Amino acid sequence: MNKSIKANCGIIELPKIIDERGNLTFIEEGNHIPFEIKRTYWIYDVPGGEFRGSHAFKETEELIVALSGSFDIVLNDGKEEKKYTLNRSYYGLYVPKLTWRKIENFSTNSLALVLCSTKFNKEDYVRDFKIFTSAINE
Ligand code: TYD
Repeated sequence: MNKSIKANCGIIELPKIIDERGNLTFIEEGNHIPFEIKRTYWIYDVPGGEFRGSHAFKETEELIVALSGSFDIVLNDGKEEKKYTLNRSYYGLYVPKLTWRKIENFSTNSLALVLCSTKFNKEDYVRDFKIFTSAINE
């Protein structure tokens, strides 16, 4: 497995066009994110105290944006854990493949946009944390 993941993950600041009529932010494939966008999904109506994720992907890379509200993303590369709080729609968190990720602490009415480098494939999921850590550290 590719072990050099930690250096790559992190917050990406997206363009922000400030306008008195309302601000605008955009993402262009190849310019603002390091992968081709094959799929987009969003997470919404999350009840208080719930979390999403808690798995890793073998191949999928993601960019996660808090379009509305806020939430925390906990990333674990098999060695270290780091928590990122997203609460601005002009920041995205880049999550490389082979990163365990959990999304938690959703605020009321929060909206998480996820851009992905792959189409949905259930075989791409690693849902067992022990298998993830032993594979990544082997
Ligand atoms: P999952 O990725 O496990 O949700 P989360 O990680 O946010 O907790 O997906 C939940 C369900 O939705 C699962 O049955 C697979 C399905 N799903 C799709 O069919 N297509 C998709 O693009 C995604 C992300 C999930």
